[in-house]
Amino acid sequence: MTLLDGTKISNDIKNEIAEEVQQMKSRGEKVPHLAAIIVGSDGASLTYVNSKVKACERVGFESTLIRMSSSSSEIELLKKIKQLNEDPDIDGFIVQLPLPKQIDTQKILLAVDPKKDVDGFHPTNFGKMALDMSCFIPATPYGILELLERHGVETKGKHTVVIGRSHIVGRPMSILMGRKGFPGNSTVTLTHSFTKNITQITSQADIIITALGNPEFLKAEMVKDDVVIIDVGITRVADDTNPRGYRITGDVDFKAVSKKASFITPVPGGVGPMTIAMLLKNTLLARDNHRH
Ligand code: GUN
Repeated sequence: MTLLDGTKISNDIKNEIAEEVQQMKSRGEKVPHLAAIIVGSDGASLTYVNSKVKACERVGFESTLIRMSSSSSEIELLKKIKQLNEDPDIDGFIVQLPLPKQIDTQKILLAVDPKKDVDGFHPTNFGKMALDMSCFIPATPYGILELLERHGVETKGKHTVVIGRSHIVGRPMSILMGRKGFPGNSTVTLTHSFTKNITQITSQADIIITALGNPEFLKAEMVKDDVVIIDVGITRVADDTNPRGYRITGDVDFKAVSKKASFITPVPGGVGPMTIAMLLKNTLLARDNHRH
């Protein structure tokens, strides 16, 4: 069994990006600038956004964090997005999800300039992705592709089962694994909460990508020998023995499933760190897109 080590690979990618930033600086060029908007003060969301800002510092990017109150209106948020769309100093930006109930998420995602949409959530980018056109690929799916590629995991002709059809992970992943090229060329089954007899499907999978947020859902009896496991789940589970009072748990029963797997991502330290590295990569691409 080989661990798909997201901590190591994300560090490699960040070092590669930092190197490029150094070269930009030595040529006297402006470095990439990422902005993030967060509405409200949800603990997990704040943690994610702060990690994104910290990652910018680490590679030498500029970053701007915009905090808005949880009672902000849709109009206020749209105004902020317009400012960022029009600000030539900002190369890319993200609106951290989820948003408070009074704000229509789809309307917000549509307002982001696709050229600055480093999350890849705008329908223009999503459509281009499905059509094999150059676009921003959402950071988590992009990170999974990079993990597979850098470990040389064969995907051609394999049966990939994706569990969960979220717009951020499951749905794009199901498209990407079936595209032409590497990693891709896979036969994809997209499963979700209405899927019947899921064990029958997962037990035929060569590659399983779980993104459902259900701790230890995938058991050893549900997979075949030598399966490749990508666990996108990150759920906080109460744990009195942990100083934080919780621990982070994936969608996979790691202890048992890892005994059967050929490759598996740990949680934490698998897909999570890759997401941030690929957001930086997208920001670097955004800067190249509109400065050349
Ligand atoms: N919420 C959970 N994951 C993400 C992400 O990748 N981007 C944004 N903007 N919000 C998220």
